[in-house]
Amino acid sequence: MHIHIMYLLFVILIPKMLSLQMIVTYGKPTNFTDATSFSESSWESCVEECYLQNTCVLAYSPTSPLNCQLYPVNRIFSVQKLYSTDLVAFKVTNSTATCPTGDNPPTFGNLTNYGSISTDLVDYTYSVSYGSDDTWSLSYNLTGRVCADGWSMFVRPTTNWCLQVFGSPSVSYTQADAIHNCTNIGTVLSGLETLDERDFVAAGALTLLGAGYPEFAAVWVSGMRKPECYSDGWENLAECAGTNMEQFTYTDTYMANYAGYTWDPNTPDRNSTGVWQNCIQMWIRIESVSPDFPYDTNPNGNSDDATCNVADSDDFSLRGFACGKLPEIPADA
Ligand SMILES: *[C@@H]1O[C@H](CO)[C@@H](O)[C@H](O)[C@H]1NC(C)=O
Ligand SMILES: *[C@@H]1O[C@H](CO)[C@@H](O)[C@H](O)[C@H]1NC(C)=O
Ligand SMILES: *[C@@H]1O[C@H](CO)[C@@H](O)[C@H](O)[C@H]1NC(C)=O
Ligand SMILES: *[C@@H]1O[C@H](CO)[C@@H](O)[C@H](O)[C@H]1NC(C)=O
Ligand SMILES: *[C@@H]1O[C@H](CO)[C@@H](O)[C@H](O)[C@H]1NC(C)=O
Ligand SMILES: *[C@@H]1O[C@H](CO)[C@@H](O)[C@H](O)[C@H]1NC(C)=O
Repeated sequence: MHIHIMYLLFVILIPKMLSLQMIVTYGKPTNFTDATSFSESSWESCVEECYLQNTCVLAYSPTSPLNCQLYPVNRIFSVQKLYSTDLVAFKVTNSTATCPTGDNPPTFGNLTNYGSISTDLVDYTYSVSYGSDDTWSLSYNLTGRVCADGWSMFVRPTTNWCLQVFGSPSVSYTQADAIHNCTNIGTVLSGLETLDERDFVAAGALTLLGAGYPEFAAVWVSGMRKPECYSDGWENLAECAGTNMEQFTYTDTYMANYAGYTWDPNTPDRNSTGVWQNCIQMWIRIESVSPDFPYDTNPNGNSDDATCNVADSDDFSLRGFACGKLPEIPADA
């Protein structure tokens, strides 16, 4: 005997005029990479919490004891159908205000159902389909947001990110100049989430500076050392040691990783030049201009710490910077 527990929680309108419902049935998540526990007194309030949380696509709990788990978009991929006990609630679209009925919710008649999630950072559409192995599969498409002309899109764990490099062989910038220039156009001095982002900034800077650029050129990227990591006693703080990225604060607050910061050997070297180098620069190098560098260890795009307010010195010049911003919903969407 199959008993389908179903109810329409409530219906709201979200952008693009799709309404979302929570459809409850028996099942258990079997493939997921993230879930958060939510302390709730009833299954109904667990379902309601998922409905209210912008990024939640599925709620789950064993019947007894209650243990509400909420699954975010793009982190839950399959749910095993059950015939009793554990409950799941799928957030899916339905164009009518009435509670749908039919065999095998939320994929009534084993059709595909859909959902969409829109946050400040990202938009997804997703589908829920039912397979012969008694399993619902969820698949996701990132949609909607674009980078304006001149900006290039990169995928980050929590959002996509738009990057553009600015600079010239004849101008120098302090880090404050770079931050100011990015802020002026509604962006931030960007960090480097991935090697792809690093390589994009390094290649873009080389293009702007030209093949015969002045030697020892660099561009600014996000990162300023925390005061406790250069005040007396910093040597005793683990977060300040070596290449630990926790020693810096970032204008780019959308990084989950710092994999694009590949340090030159023996850097960051802090105050080795006699003054504190509390900001982060990216070296721009091609062999014809900088033949003294071993390119296997000092490639174009490596990071180094640099003196924040010195744009120009005998040793280097900061000739540009990378700005970053969130993708935008197109005006005609
Ligand atoms: C879980 O789902 C993801 C995304 O569809 C898939 O790449 C992965 O192979 C699945 N893992 C298992 C163990 O089925
Ligand atoms: C939406 O609700 C209607 C009315 O109950 C139902 O016939 C239809 O199958 C539902 N569609 C989806 C995709 O859930
Ligand atoms: C949906 O799939 C289930 C399980 O495979 C099956 O028992 C049922 O007959 C199917 N329903 C339809 C309408 O195809
Ligand atoms: C995702 O995009 C692909 C290619 O455009 C499409 O075939 C698929 O149906 C989409 N899936 C969802 C869940 O929107
Ligand atoms: C940076 O800002 C200054 C002052 O507003 C402006 O003159 C300059 O053109 C900007 N540079 C870039 C590359 O945006
Ligand atoms: C560099 O930092 C070390 C450790 O804080 C300190 O002992 C030394 O005086 C500093 N040197 C300069 C030139 O600031």
